[in-house]
Amino acid sequence: MLTKLHKLKNTMNKRLVQSSFTVKCFMKLRKLYSNVDDFVKKILNKKPVLYLFEYHVVEHCNMNCKSCFHFSNLVKQPKFADFEQYTRDLRRLSEQFSNVRVIHLMGGEPLLNPELPQFIHVTRHFFPKATICILTNGMLVKKMAPELMKAIVKHNVRFRVSIYEPMIKRREEVASFLAQHGIKHWVSDPYLSFAKYINIEGNSNPKKSVGQCPASRCTFVSNGRMARCALPFNMKYFNRHFDKQIDMRSDQLDFHDSDVDGFQIKKHLLKPMSACRYCKEVEWISWKRSVRADRSDATLNDFCSNA
Ligand SMILES: C[S@@+](CC[C@H](N)C(=O)[O-])C[C@H]1O[C@@H](n2cnc3c(N)ncnc32)[C@H](O)[C@@H]1O
Ligand code: SF4
Ligand code: SF4
Repeated sequence: MLTKLHKLKNTMNKRLVQSSFTVKCFMKLRKLYSNVDDFVKKILNKKPVLYLFEYHVVEHCNMNCKSCFHFSNLVKQPKFADFEQYTRDLRRLSEQFSNVRVIHLMGGEPLLNPELPQFIHVTRHFFPKATICILTNGMLVKKMAPELMKAIVKHNVRFRVSIYEPMIKRREEVASFLAQHGIKHWVSDPYLSFAKYINIEGNSNPKKSVGQCPASRCTFVSNGRMARCALPFNMKYFNRHFDKQIDMRSDQLDFHDSDVDGFQIKKHLLKPMSACRYCKEVEWISWKRSVRADRSDATLNDFCSNA
């Protein structure tokens, strides 16, 4: 039994190394392409293209996975994004970028937001060529309102469904529901393990953290500001729950500032952040849920190996 487990661990490690090598090559090529593209666009006095941004249409969740990268399991009260602010943010970004290739509408669990159709319409309005993608845990897919289904189909919105233990039996059902309605989708294999990566001491080398980053280039937009990833925005939930005062606001760029153009934003997003001092090499733990209403079963140890 132990030998079998050992062999399985070795195969998994090998796959991880191979896939991280492929990912690194892909990232380097993408960076090269983006640099050349920006260079040409600057000369031609055109706006640059942003590869991706992520946006929380909702902060809370109905799954509450322990160690959630976005600390959504620590959000105890329902909290929805402000639609007017999102519209202002999109308008400003459309002035700074000719296109955003991929936009992730997510959270938390995005299907909890009854205003999701409006978020979809306005996203398509400002970025007609973007790939709009909803990242969901799939629990509410079959309960989507007709208005939401219409907006999804009309604006060619794709689905990325993460499957966790409570949804394993319904995986095929969710996939065939999306297929029947002509919705492009990708449904994950079950997540049996989750990563923890916070270094509570805040003494990691930011450059090194970025090299092993679990959220590499997941540009995050929130209330008129953006950063290289979601951590500088979501840390407040971690602070509140664990009574900490880790301040990451200096990593948030105010992109409504009239002096900031798309090229400057892209340059800012490439730099390691001060928040990266709080990240370390990922450790994999078994996937579990926080089930108590007061989340007293969500502990520091779920997120930090050195808690
Ligand atoms: C923060 S979730 C939000 C969207 C949706 N609730 C979901 O779970 O797909 C976005 C992605 O981050 C992944 N994720 C979040 N925390 C993670 C962790 N600790 N380890 C590995 N992946 C994680 C999820 O599996 C999901 O694919
Ligand atoms: S389903 Fe899990 S990973 Fe996704 S937002 Fe909710 S708690 Fe986080
Ligand atoms: S803080 Fe830095 S290292 Fe950590 S996830 Fe964000 S970009 Fe990656």
